[in-house]
Amino acid sequence: MKNGHIRHYSITVAVVLGVLAVGAVVFVYSGLYDIGADDHHTRPVFAVLQTLRERSIHAHSEHLTVPDLNDPQLILEGAGQYAAMCTECHLAPGMKDSELRPGLYPQPPNLSQVRVGPKEAFWIIKHGIKMSAMPAWGASHDDPTIWSMVAFLQKLPDMTPAQYKDIVAKAPPDEDMDMGEDSDHGHGGDSDRP
Ligand code: HEC
Repeated sequence: MKNGHIRHYSITVAVVLGVLAVGAVVFVYSGLYDIGADDHHTRPVFAVLQTLRERSIHAHSEHLTVPDLNDPQLILEGAGQYAAMCTECHLAPGMKDSELRPGLYPQPPNLSQVRVGPKEAFWIIKHGIKMSAMPAWGASHDDPTIWSMVAFLQKLPDMTPAQYKDIVAKAPPDEDMDMGEDSDHGHGGDSDRP
């Protein structure tokens, strides 16, 4: 390309980018965008967000070292945590729906049917997901407690409603509930896990 052509090309690109930037600002300030959770994303926007989410979770969780998730004590502890904090959004064997779940967008997956890889699950539970209802449980739970939930989640899709009820009944209670007083007790012996 000759110099004159390059200059012409650069000016055109700059003008187009400028118009797009002004358009974006006008759109944001106009209030036309429907932020309501009952108005769903268009397919292309959803596809971009989904890819962003998957790439981000993969890149951030890749380096994690997974402890022994078959430890029955760990699974049992996770059952108590899950029953206390997660079923309203992620359901449980024998649970058809909750009052909260239908109104959520993105819709939380039914974790009694879907199995998520341990590294991804740990990272998501600890850090949550922006602009979704998934909280960052790391704000109130240490890593060993989060691994207990991950261990439990690996078993959950194979459980019948009766097995689920049984393991939750045997599980140690979720003692993180009385935070503020002695929130760090109750994880006895697990503190040396990664
Ligand atoms: C208030 C609702 C809510 C609660 C409570 C909640 N979650 Fe979530 N969770 C979500 C939503 C919404 C998503 C999906 C976010 C997305 O796709 O961007 C999600 C995603 C996840 C995922 C990833 C699923 C996948 O397919 O990649 C895991 C794992 C998870 N949650 C575990 C938990 C655990 C464990 C608890 C309890 C300690 C919990 N969640 C409590 C709303 C919730």
